[in-house]
Formats: sequence, structure tokens, C-alpha cells
Amino acid sequence: MKKEDIRRILIVGGGLMGKNIAFVFSAEPAYEITVYDMYPVDVPGGIRTSCAQLVEKGVLAPEELEARIGRISFTDDIDSDSVKNADLVVEAVFEDMAVKRETFAKLEARCRPDTIFCTNTSVMSPSEISRDLTHRERFAGTHFWNPGHLIPLVEVVRSDATSDETAETVLAVLAGVGKKPVLCKKDVPGFIANRMQHALWREAISIVEHGIADAETVDMAVRYSFGLRLPQLGPLENSDLVGNDLTYNIHDYILSSLEDSHEPSPLLKKLRDEGKLGFKTGEGFMKWTPEETAEAASALNEYLIRMLYGK
Ligand SMILES: NC(=O)c1ccc[n+]([C@@H]2O[C@H](COP(=O)([O-])OP(=O)(O)OC[C@H]3O[C@@H](n4cnc5c(N)ncnc54)[C@H](O)[C@@H]3O)[C@@H](O)[C@H]2O)c1
Repeated sequence: MKKEDIRRILIVGGGLMGKNIAFVFSAEPAYEITVYDMYPVDVPGGIRTSCAQLVEKGVLAPEELEARIGRISFTDDIDSDSVKNADLVVEAVFEDMAVKRETFAKLEARCRPDTIFCTNTSVMSPSEISRDLTHRERFAGTHFWNPGHLIPLVEVVRSDATSDETAETVLAVLAGVGKKPVLCKKDVPGFIANRMQHALWREAISIVEHGIADAETVDMAVRYSFGLRLPQLGPLENSDLVGNDLTYNIHDYILSSLEDSHEPSPLLKKLRDEGKLGFKTGEGFMKWTPEETAEAASALNEYLIRMLYGK
């Protein structure tokens, strides 16, 4: 299917991600959006909560929010017409291979053979999720980042069978609703962005583990140096800027001393085993008061809105 053929969008799973993904598609007035969940879900209420700060900051007018919510309906009936007639499906059910495969088997039995199927899996392989489908060419990963209504990136992940047309249509539809979709050409663990994010986290944990700096210092070093310029200057543009000869010399000198363990760090395992889980327990790499943890989500949203909309 082409972008122009897409009108009816089905979100399967109306949890944290599903509701926000439904809101994202509502940016296009021509789309009819349905959220399907096996349990009753308050989709309008969830979207109003997610978008409260966008409204408060004047990024989204209250009437625009309500108009967008009005384009999203809900069903808990998998045999409803909105499931059967969907042109594009985004699945956001539990992160469980068996549940996802079973969900797509049910969808394939009901939807047209050309309906595009997308999975919002965080880490699982789209090739494996779609393994038992008949029409595997219309299947792709669409990895939205949390909070899904704010973070622009969506990684469109090709499985071992995704057709060019499917990938192109999904990229075009996402760009059309204001996302910044990127194509991950191979089905690899972590896709693109999480591979880089966790390479950084592995090194950050290793620095603490080896007594080079404490956790607060590690985060401060990121926040006040390359973290500040990353949104403007990506790592590869940065390498071109300083010169790839310099990058080569730096790598030649330091790569052999960077963390390259293929196992989670012993320090991370120790924290986990001691129940130092972070916000959830009040202590992790650092100590957290209930007030600090309560403010964290709202502070992140405020920061994102300032960065993205200047408000
Ligand atoms: N939360 C995040 O930060 C995040 C980020 C990116 C991707 N994801 C991925 O998005 C997906 C959903 O995550 P979430 O955080 O929204 O989870 P969630 O638990 O908030 O929501 C999952 C929803 O799916 C529904 N559901 C479960 N099984 C179902 C089925 N068989 N049929 C219909 N509905 C079903 C549940 O009732 C629930 O409402 C997961 O694959 C997750 O890995 C999550």
C-alpha cells in the first residue's frame, strides 16, 4: 500500500505507548483511528493527561486537543469492522514474543492481506515476531520512543522480509504526522538508537565501577559537554567537523581501554541484587527522595517541550 491509500489506522494495545501513538496519528485529520485493547481503556483520559503540559504551555489549543481526541475511537472487539478494515496497524501490546505473535496471527485472520502491520517492540526482532505470518512482506518494526507524543524519532525496522514498498509507506505516513522516522536497514538488537545509548550507559557504569568518577560526576560530565551539543551536532557530523584523521588517532589511542564487556556490569548486577533499583526503591546509582522521583517525569516533559517547541 502507498501513503495515499492509508486512511484507517488501528492501534492494538491501549497502554502507555498505544494511547500516545494514537494521538500522534490524529495530527492528520483524514485518518480514522481506532484503539483496540482486550481490556477497557480510557483513551481520551489518557491522552488528556499526556498532553496536559502541551496545553498549559500553549503548544496545543484545548479545542485542537479535543478535535484530535474526537478522531480516535476505542473497541475491545477484535471482530469489529475497524479491525477488519484497517489499512495500517501499529501493535503496542505487552513486550512478550508469544503475545505479539498470537496478536498478529489474530489480526492476519481478520485484516486484508495488504494491510500494513507494524510492531512497537522495544527490543524484539520484527523477523521473529512476524515469523509465522503468511504475508510477511507487509510487516515492519516501528519503534516509537517514550513519551511517544513528544519524542520525534521513530525507528522503522526492516525484518528479513519487509518489502521496499512497506518500508517506504511507513516512513512516509510517519513523516506526514510530524515524526522524524529513520530506516533501520537490518533487524539487529537495539536497532539504531538503543545500540548507541547502551554503549554509552555501559561505559558510564564502567567508569563508576572502576572508581574513575562517581555517578553524579558521570552524569554531570555528559550534561555539560557533548550532551549539550548532541541535538545540534550528531557524532558523525562531529567527526567530520574535527576531522576523521583526528578521530582515527583518538580511537587508535583509547579504544583498547574502553569497556567492551559482553555481560551486564558486576556493579549493575550488585545494585539489582541488593534491591537498589533507582526511583522505584529510593536508591540506585544515586539516592532519590519521593519528591525528586515525583517531579522527574514532569521535568523531562517540560524540557522536551522547551527544546522542541521553544515554550
Ligand atoms: N513504555 C515504554 O517506554 C516503551 C517505549 C518504546 C516501546 N515500548 C513497547 O511498546 C509496547 C507497549 O508498551 P506499553 O509501555 O504501552 O505497555 P502497557 O503495559 O502500558 O500497555 C500494553 C497494553 O496492551 C494491552 N494488551 C496486552 N495484550 C493484549 C492483546 N493480546 N490484545 C490486545 N491488547 C493487549 C494491555 O491491556 C495494555 O493496555 C511494548 O512492546 C513495549 O516494549 C514501550
